[in-house]
Amino acid sequence: MEIIAKGKKIVIRSISIEDASTFTKWWNDGVVMESVGFPEGLGITEDKVREDFQKEIRERERGFPEHRRFVILDRWTEQPVGEISFGKMDYKKRSCRIGLKIGEPSEQGKGLGKDALRLFMDYLYERYGLWSIQLDALADNRRAITLYQNMGFEIIEEISDYWTDPEGKSRNVVFLEHRREPEGLVERLQKRCSVRDFAKEGIAEEVIEEILEAGRLAPSGGNEQPWKFALIKNRKLMKSIVETAYNQVWMLDAAFLVVLITTIVSDERGGRDIQIARYPDLERRIEKMDLHFYGRINQEEHQTKIPGTQMVLAALEYGVGSTWVSYFKVEEVKNLLGLSAWEIPSEILAFGYPQKPMKSKAKKPMESILIRFD
Ligand SMILES: Cc1cc2nc3c(=O)[nH]c(=O)nc-3n(C[C@H](O)[C@H](O)[C@H](O)COP(=O)(O)O)c2cc1C
Repeated sequence: MEIIAKGKKIVIRSISIEDASTFTKWWNDGVVMESVGFPEGLGITEDKVREDFQKEIRERERGFPEHRRFVILDRWTEQPVGEISFGKMDYKKRSCRIGLKIGEPSEQGKGLGKDALRLFMDYLYERYGLWSIQLDALADNRRAITLYQNMGFEIIEEISDYWTDPEGKSRNVVFLEHRREPEGLVERLQKRCSVRDFAKEGIAEEVIEEILEAGRLAPSGGNEQPWKFALIKNRKLMKSIVETAYNQVWMLDAAFLVVLITTIVSDERGGRDIQIARYPDLERRIEKMDLHFYGRINQEEHQTKIPGTQMVLAALEYGVGSTWVSYFKVEEVKNLLGLSAWEIPSEILAFGYPQKPMKSKAKKPMESILIRFD
């Protein structure tokens, strides 16, 4: 069970199947559920809750679930006191909706909810690179609304008769939003490090697409784009690739790998001219080389570093960590991916959510690397 936050009063961890009975008790308790509009409780069975929890836990590991619940524990007794959750992420707007409930009536009014909310928001902003967090409350739940406002939420809308409760009563709902200034790129880079310890959590397809898109847009000599990208999520293939990377087993926990493949800059597009410009003293010899020999040595492998870097930066924006891997058996990866003689795997990138917050390594001071000509 993943602990995502520890505060002075509470701890927040992912749900487990064993939590189903506690949640069923809370959700069926009219006193607890009154504030969210169910004064008779939900009337749900433990089997149904167990089934939902099983599904959520499975999805969390395989891909990205639509909804994730966490348990709030008393820091000292380690007993469950409440629940906190987030709903479907809006990756375009970088926001999500959250929900909070202290399920044990005896634990209400002790500031546990506030503590949990603050920690949970920090976690979400950091983990998923969010810009805003939303929540809602019944308009007559003034206590909750005041708490949210004190924590920096602003009311964005109040909708009358938004919802009809099980008793047939029409209820007004208040929608609130909390915003945090997005971090700048350099600020993020100041914290970046290679991540080799990945959380057991999939990455949403939309985020993967954004990461790949950042690579596709990379600059290249003559806009030749001498590359292909292999996206690897298949666990069996991942395992084989890790074996070719001299068994760097940490790669197995990555959510996915991208193999950056260099394709040859052809004669027609002036590939030979690029090499001549680089080695003018070898001009005659380069011109004379037969295409096959020339092709094999004219690997613009350095060029794939650019889409790779752009992918790493886009990943950072979404809180996704990565590590470059160039220590692998090139021919073996080439065979595994069924590539042609003109396509050479040049780097592998491993991506995943970091298990712990990133902390950058020491870098050389600017004065030792910068040569200025003002
Ligand atoms: C081109 C390149 C190849 C790398 N290959 C590997 C590798 O095979 N295995 C690995 O664990 N790390 C690899 N790394 C990660 C480096 O070890 C890491 O970037 C370096 O130690 C600096 O740490 P930082 O990224 O946390 O700042 C590679 C990095 C680069 C840029």
